[in-house]
Amino acid sequence: MTTAADFHQRIIDDAAAAVRGLSVSLGQRLGLYRALADHGPLTPTQLADRTGIHPRYAEEWLHAQLSATYVDRGPDGAYTLPDAHRPVLADPTAATYAAGFFTALKALYATEDLLADAYRTGDGVGWAEHDPALDTGMGSFFEPTYQHRLIPDWLPSLHGTAEKLAAGGTVADVGCGVGHTTLLIAEAFPHATVHGFDYSEEAITLARQLAEDAGLADRVVFDVAGADDYPGTGYDLVTFFNCLHDMGDPLAAAQHVRKSLDADGTWMLVESNVAPDDVTAGTPAARMFMALSAVMCLPVALAQRGPQALGNHSGEQAFRALAAEAGFSRWRRAAETPVNAVYEVRP
Ligand SMILES: C[S@@+](CC[C@H](N)C(=O)[O-])C[C@H]1O[C@@H](n2cnc3c(N)ncnc32)[C@H](O)[C@@H]1O
Repeated sequence: MTTAADFHQRIIDDAAAAVRGLSVSLGQRLGLYRALADHGPLTPTQLADRTGIHPRYAEEWLHAQLSATYVDRGPDGAYTLPDAHRPVLADPTAATYAAGFFTALKALYATEDLLADAYRTGDGVGWAEHDPALDTGMGSFFEPTYQHRLIPDWLPSLHGTAEKLAAGGTVADVGCGVGHTTLLIAEAFPHATVHGFDYSEEAITLARQLAEDAGLADRVVFDVAGADDYPGTGYDLVTFFNCLHDMGDPLAAAQHVRKSLDADGTWMLVESNVAPDDVTAGTPAARMFMALSAVMCLPVALAQRGPQALGNHSGEQAFRALAAEAGFSRWRRAAETPVNAVYEVRP
């Protein structure tokens, strides 16, 4: 049986992780993990020299990393990032990269007062009420999976879709956030016409900048638009990546997809791979999604004052029922990861 003393230690440990998230964000932002990966072992002074930070901060930051067992320390006092930790903390191109998420905490923790009011009144906290660090951090959370799965695995799992895009089809990426998925599709299918829509102006501004940086600005159009009123019809592919559950009227969004899609088109719905029963599963993905839903996904949906706020773990049956109500007749779980399920939804 767990004693109060045991549980107290567990909460202290959770509090430590919550605080440490800020040091991870700093490590990512200041290139500290990268320097350790590329040039370690490094003493605090050497880390400071390599990255341009103050040596006293280097020492304290390394202590935080060592106490968390993120880094090792040799008998000579030099620190190493273990090989297995590099693709998680130092390599943004790796499928397991996770250091980028923590910047979102800046945005989430800053909404505490708004959340306290919302919890009392039943109102929400809209996406735009958060610092743009939420766009960047959430973009980083999902990007490694998209990088490694979307083009080689997920799109080919959809019946005939990759072939249509290769020949020059049209795509609407709805709730596109900063546009990582939109840009991946545009890059992989140079003949396709690709639009990214999001109701957040901040997200669309960041997406346009990323398109510029990637040299894709002339091939992708990003516009501010809601999921239930984005322009265009006859799309071969409409994609929703991890966003339907954030919407206040997911049925209206599904109905708009049905209207905007070609009769032979596909709605690619990517959602969390967790269901209400997973509330006690104890997996990292379930814990992450449940935690996010209570302070981000549900409040974002409620802020839209729609008829239905799903939360991020409403599960396949809820999404499938929505799609059927919106007039879709075909539903298939086409691919999955521990974090995401990919559904192929067709008229
Ligand atoms: C968790 S983020 C996912 C962003 C992006 N699709 C990704 O996977 O990185 C959810 C996105 O949904 C957008 N969103 C929420 N409600 C929306 C609505 N009603 N219409 C359009 N976008 C919406 C938010 O602005 C946010 O960018």
